Amino acid sequence: MSLSALPKLELHLHLEGAAPPAFIRDLAAEKHVDLSGIFAEGGAYSYTDFWHFLKVYEAATSVLTTPEDYARLTRAVLAESAAHGVVYSETFLSPDFCGGRDPAAWAEYLAAIREAAEAAERDDGITLRGIVTCIRHFGPDKAKETAVAAAETAGDWLVGFGMAGDERAGEPADFAWAFDCAREAGLRLTTHAGEWRGAEHVRASLDALRPERVGHGVRAIEDPALVDRLAEDGIVLEVCPGSNVTLGVYPSWQAHPIDRLRESGVPVTVSTDDPPFFHTTMSREYEMLNRNFGWDEEAFKELNRITLDAAFCTPETKTRIAKTLEPS
Ligand code: HPA
Ligand code: ZN
Repeated sequence: MSLSALPKLELHLHLEGAAPPAFIRDLAAEKHVDLSGIFAEGGAYSYTDFWHFLKVYEAATSVLTTPEDYARLTRAVLAESAAHGVVYSETFLSPDFCGGRDPAAWAEYLAAIREAAEAAERDDGITLRGIVTCIRHFGPDKAKETAVAAAETAGDWLVGFGMAGDERAGEPADFAWAFDCAREAGLRLTTHAGEWRGAEHVRASLDALRPERVGHGVRAIEDPALVDRLAEDGIVLEVCPGSNVTLGVYPSWQAHPIDRLRESGVPVTVSTDDPPFFHTTMSREYEMLNRNFGWDEEAFKELNRITLDAAFCTPETKTRIAKTLEPS
């Protein structure tokens, strides 16, 4: 079985975090910005832990200053995803980085990203949809501005709203206004939780923000009653095992709970998070799931069904994507 050739769907991908290091290095050179501090000798991104990663991420993002830069980034990222068999992807976008939360500027960035995605759909056969994320450590006031910008651009392409950033900053209830605003605009909801804080924080996030999906959520495994709740309510986890192992949330693939969560009836999906930062690709995630947990072609087909069901795109788009998953 060639795992890289299997069609794949991905729901949890940070657009800037998917930027190939060479792309950011070249853009920095074009703009005469010295970013040498964020790269290791071999050219990869360099950071010490998750919190330093967030700083390096923001430094890398600082050279993306125009809608055109984001259009080029979108093409580069989608070409890479398509090369690993990804046919549908949802990506996190942040008005904080795209025009400083100004709604008019954000609309221009979004239009450029969307146009690039449409070109990639024609050329690379991959469909992209967007999810706006507020950034938790920027605080609740900025999250409100972000939600307003997201609400104004909600539609068939910008389909969701979520929260990324430092999970240890603030409490979920601090962000309830932003999530309510996004929900009222028709956006579907997801939030990062259960990566750097435990099961209690996943529970608090569900109660305060009422998301349909949780980014990571894996530490729910620490509380069997919460695992039951996720399974019963069909709360989907956007699991990024390679990210978790690289960042040390778990010491090894064998110790990762994705297979136990799946066995418990929790709808789990698989994504790369920030692939070049975490030295992964969707092919590698599949390879490691096969090697460590014996997931086979049938398991990956089931994964595709769960993932497509959990996608935030319209039913028409789902029907079209489902056709690409059928053997021809
Ligand atoms: N986790 C949380 N916040 C982020 C990430 C991530 O992997 N990437 C960019 N912002
Ligand atoms: Zn993430």
